[in-house]
Amino acid sequence: MKLMILGCPGAGKGTQAQFISRDYHIPQISTGEMLRQAVTQGSELGQKANVIMQAGKLVPDDLIIDLVKVRISEKDCKNGFILDGFPRTLPQAEALIDAAIALDVVLEISLEDEAIVHRMSGRLVHAASGRVYHSEFNPPKVPMKDDVTGEALIQRDDDKEETVRKRIDVYHAQTKPLINFYKHFPSNARVAAPKFCQVSGLGTVETVAARIHEHLVQKNILA
Ligand code: AP5
Repeated sequence: MKLMILGCPGAGKGTQAQFISRDYHIPQISTGEMLRQAVTQGSELGQKANVIMQAGKLVPDDLIIDLVKVRISEKDCKNGFILDGFPRTLPQAEALIDAAIALDVVLEISLEDEAIVHRMSGRLVHAASGRVYHSEFNPPKVPMKDDVTGEALIQRDDDKEETVRKRIDVYHAQTKPLINFYKHFPSNARVAAPKFCQVSGLGTVETVAARIHEHLVQKNILA
């Protein structure tokens, strides 16, 4: 199964991708997470990406496309993967097609802008693994500690309200057009069109997970 999760910042892409990855044993490929790791490591990519991410803008397409192509070619992706946060521009979507990478399903999680700002203010992250929590809606078992390792949780630098609003603007301008792109997939593309599903991101984490499962089963994507 090759699945892509699309949605505005804070819609719950990472949270739901974690569940699908765990339940169906396919890796979650989060470009945001890969970039944050590069920032922590202080690599050349990380240094370039850091300033852009803190400003709430998108990292240049060529950097991201190469990163994803290399990751997808790794052994653990041979039975499928979940793309979380990629593609998020039309050139990125076209690059996947040019590389003959066919997605089986594109899943959009939709959520209103104001709900997003509230969610982001409570997000907590385990920096080493990228596991995501929320202080109110999806709390860790022990406050401010990762459930698996017991290590401290942090808040992301780009979760300040001003940056979140900028990221939402960027989503509307550069990523939302992908919804129409996948709904009206070019008939002359090198690869088959993916199935497109749209689910509401409203409700508890468990409610949204059940909704996604139901949609994927209905489309014969999951057993
Ligand atoms: P990235 O890390 O991908 O950020 P994003 O797309 O803005 O998405 P988020 O991770 O903020 O949100 P999410 O939808 O995963 O929500 P989550 O599950 O965490 O990218 C960061 C930056 O990297 C970008 O701004 C850009 O600069 C760069 N970048 C990344 N990919 C790129 C690309 N392809 N091209 C160019 N640049 C790129 O949930 C949010 C919070 O809500 C959590 O606390 C969670 O616990 C909680 N929550 C989740 N679901 C629910 C629910 N149902 N009810 C209540 N709370 C919930």
